[in-house]
Amino acid sequence: PTERVQLKDRIRRLLKEKNAVMVSHYYVHPDLQDLAEETGGIVSDSLEMARFGRDHPAQTLVVSGVRFMGETAKILSPEKTVLMPDLDATCSLDLGCPIDEFSAFCDQHPDRTVVVYANTSAAVKARSDWLVTSSCALDIVRALKDKGHKILWAPDRHLGSYIQQQTGADMLFWNGACIVHDEFKALELELLKKEHPQAKVLVHPESPPDVVALADAVGSTSAILKAAQEMDATEFIVATDKGMMHKLRQLNPGKTFYEAPTAGNSATCKSCAHCPWMAMNGLAGVAQVLESGANAVQVDPAIIPRARLPIDRMLAFTA
Ligand code: 13P
Ligand code: SF4
Repeated sequence: PTERVQLKDRIRRLLKEKNAVMVSHYYVHPDLQDLAEETGGIVSDSLEMARFGRDHPAQTLVVSGVRFMGETAKILSPEKTVLMPDLDATCSLDLGCPIDEFSAFCDQHPDRTVVVYANTSAAVKARSDWLVTSSCALDIVRALKDKGHKILWAPDRHLGSYIQQQTGADMLFWNGACIVHDEFKALELELLKKEHPQAKVLVHPESPPDVVALADAVGSTSAILKAAQEMDATEFIVATDKGMMHKLRQLNPGKTFYEAPTAGNSATCKSCAHCPWMAMNGLAGVAQVLESGANAVQVDPAIIPRARLPIDRMLAFTA
């Protein structure tokens, strides 16, 4: 058998031995998505990854994704062991929102309710009132607006401006961006639309506003999946990480999916529209951490209760 098959067998065996379950994001390698599902774990968006990790009885969670996903799992289940193939798998939104500067920004605007995207550190979560992911941000901000809240939003400015445009809420923005989605280009997308006039355009709201404006459906990874299944079309142009293509194609065998253009799209560009940190996850890493127990996610126990508060609010709101 090939090395890949051997690694998968080893992981299946280790999961049983260690009473562990895999929690994978849609952007990681297809092998890690399929294996998670096949072994009783989940492949999902960041919101459902959090809920699944919290509710599953396994003592060990193997999170294939980026660090904030592992940290959220640990905050929700401090008694569990949360392993990640690579602890350096971060996110440009998290990197661009350091706690000291963010805290000072919040202190300058004490009249605003602090709404923070899941793609942040545990410390930033602990400074927030509400946590959101892209699949529930609209509903949560709408509900806060209806109660008269003014909002301080961090860190993704594109998602923030999309939500402001949809809800009309009073929002003040932190200036962060996702390095993957920020690269999608409206002009090139219009040209691709001309080549495929029947295709519907599906866009993750971390993309720039002129790209979002061309969308037939805007939403989180799970919303994109749902739209592809439910929309009356057989061709789609997809503006999100290309890891998503695996599930889209698997669940929609009769439909065709094209990658939306980025500035660097070319035959030689291997990392276009693919998160370099999501790409740090692989079968070998999963097998290794399961075997050795290395790469256990640590969150300062002193901040866990406060960081948990906004996450619990989000999970209760979306239950
Ligand atoms: P979702 O919450 O839609 O899964 O997105 C997470 C993410 O990192 C998007 O880039
Ligand atoms: Fe962060 Fe973007 Fe990577 Fe998602 S795709 S983890 S938002 S850098």
